[in-house]
Amino acid sequence: MSGLKIIATGRKIPQKCVTNDDLKQYVETSDEWIRSRTGIVTRHYASGEKTWQLAAGAAKSALEKGGVNAADISLCITATITGDYATPSVSCMVQRELGLPENIPVFDINAACSGFIYALSVADRMLEEGSWGLVIGCERLSKILDFTDRSTCVLFGDGAGAALVKKEVGGEFYFSLGASGNKEALYAGGINEEESFVHMNGAEVFRFATGAMEKGILEMQEKSRNSDVDMYVCHQANARIIAHVRKKLKIPQEKLYMNLQRYGNTSGASIPIALDELFEEGKIGKGKKIIAVGFGGGLTWGSCFMRL
Ligand code: ACO
Repeated sequence: MSGLKIIATGRKIPQKCVTNDDLKQYVETSDEWIRSRTGIVTRHYASGEKTWQLAAGAAKSALEKGGVNAADISLCITATITGDYATPSVSCMVQRELGLPENIPVFDINAACSGFIYALSVADRMLEEGSWGLVIGCERLSKILDFTDRSTCVLFGDGAGAALVKKEVGGEFYFSLGASGNKEALYAGGINEEESFVHMNGAEVFRFATGAMEKGILEMQEKSRNSDVDMYVCHQANARIIAHVRKKLKIPQEKLYMNLQRYGNTSGASIPIALDELFEEGKIGKGKKIIAVGFGGGLTWGSCFMRL
């Protein structure tokens, strides 16, 4: 049996850091409200950087850390809802920037905040044994925020994370994906100019997110027959969502990573950014067992178990 493994990761966070107090120039809000309701303290906004440039920065870093050449990559998938152009895709721009081979599949997928898990699962199915791929999560959400709507504009940030993956003999990788078409709970118009901003029913999304996260973790523990997981990495939407599930499933605090205080919700980028920080801090590495869970717009959800 063979399965996907993450060998190295990288991230690219835009320079511009925006505090909760900075947002007071746009909407009536406070640091206290944002911290206590969401856990978010700062987020970063691209100023001049394109989405693909963030993606390429993260992917380049993953390749360097993994010691793998661009010429050895057999697949590149980017999970994003904020690509710069309808075409070319972010992945095609990364291909050009990094000099990835031309005889490989290179494309983007849209599964919002679950996108990185979807992309890992697609890579697992598409890669042949022994071959390498790049899986990227990347967003520039600041360009689709309504800065007159305080209930949404304070929540999101920009950034990119990337994983250098390899399909290996003996690799243990399990996943589960799902979706339930729904435009009312969570919506962003994109190129639909009349309603291009993010809208959200906060309470409905909270209920959906806690349910999806809980179910995803339990399903992966069961599929992998592993309840002694080293690290849980979930989509970084809101500290209250994470705390709710952590308490319900009695997961020790140190095993459920949280960095949304620094970046806000970066949608498809949040899981790979978290993975890169965990590798850097030595909290995950070869042989460690992780469960990752994404949930978000679509509505979509996805979870995976991986032994690194
Ligand atoms: N600053 C100050 N006041 C605010 C702000 C703000 N930024 N935003 C909303 N308020 C006000 C509202 O206007 C409302 O005032 P009112 O009572 O006078 O009408 C009051 O705060 C309470 O509003 P609620 O929406 O009920 O606030 P709640 O406590 O439910 O928190 C939140 C909102 C944080 C969004 C919550 O619903 C939640 O945690 N939802 C989960 C969804 C989430 O985090 N989604 C992230 C993106 S989706 C995803 O990634 C899956």
